[in-house]
Amino acid sequence: MSKLTVTNLNKTYPNGVKALDNVSFEIENGLFGLLGPNGAGKSSLMRTLATLQEADSGAATLDDIDILNQPAKLRKVLGYLPQEFGVYPKINSEQLLNHLALLKGITKKSERKELVKYLLNKVNLYDKRKKSVKGFSGGMKQRVGIAQALIGNPKLIIVDEPTAGLDPGERNRFYNLLADVGKNVIVILSTHIVDDVRELCTNMAIMDQGQIVYYGAPQDAINQLDGRVYQKLVSRDELAGYANTYSIISNKMVGGQPLIHILSETHPDNGFEPVKPDLEDVFFSKTNTSHTLV
Ligand SMILES: Nc1ncnc2c1ncn2[C@@H]1O[C@H](COP(=O)(O)OP(=O)(O)OP(=O)(O)O)[C@@H](O)[C@H]1O
Ligand SMILES: [Mg+2]
Repeated sequence: MSKLTVTNLNKTYPNGVKALDNVSFEIENGLFGLLGPNGAGKSSLMRTLATLQEADSGAATLDDIDILNQPAKLRKVLGYLPQEFGVYPKINSEQLLNHLALLKGITKKSERKELVKYLLNKVNLYDKRKKSVKGFSGGMKQRVGIAQALIGNPKLIIVDEPTAGLDPGERNRFYNLLADVGKNVIVILSTHIVDDVRELCTNMAIMDQGQIVYYGAPQDAINQLDGRVYQKLVSRDELAGYANTYSIISNKMVGGQPLIHILSETHPDNGFEPVKPDLEDVFFSKTNTSHTLV
């Protein structure tokens, strides 16, 4: 069992944007979801933990490794799938993985061959191993990305927005793969898709404007909202008025009409009906995203 501990990480970019604002959390083996809207600081946090950029202050450890001060040591036990995973043109997945394994220090040819075969089977691409990666679908490319992140038996796997652009079928296959991988190591998965976290993660954090605004189990966050969320179908020109009167946490179109969810300690009447809260309500109530929707 491994443990990742992040303590008071701070990072302000030269342009003044504070991407990490006193970020602290602790995680153990399994899938950990890092949920946050665009610009929340997810990639900044992941790049910092992957030792690709430095923090201004704070600490991070993986078991006995001081991540910020022993980057080489961390990299030996890290698998990382960046948000933008560039693939080499005109190369097949077998060649690509072989090449990346060599870069990761697996110098023995026979060992590499065995490993690549194992990885291709693991991500269900063995049959396609001779096909150019360039022609792969988004989901297949992501599976190549996961395969390369598994090289070298990592203890910590960081995947940054791995499901962006996948269709529901591909997303499901990818979920299964991640759940399988996450049994024995720490997997941190960043996403702005609430379903990713609901379906996969026993533990999560919500990040917004550089801060961790929730840390815990998805279900606990949902329970906190129990009996406090109400919904109503409104017309589009009424929306601004509702936004002034109520605390709107989300607003989605249903048949061309806005369905608003509001947070209220008492029944608001006025045509609202109570609704069972879900993780989306949690996400919108904890972040500033919903304001931009009105
Ligand atoms: N190299 C950089 N220089 C300056 N500002 C940056 C840099 N990288 C990120 N930022 C800013 O820091 C904030 C956090 O960005 P980050 O990419 O970490 O967010 P994110 O949660 O990964 O967003 P997304 O969901 O869009 O990937 C944003 O305001 C972003 O514009
Ligand atoms: Mg990002």
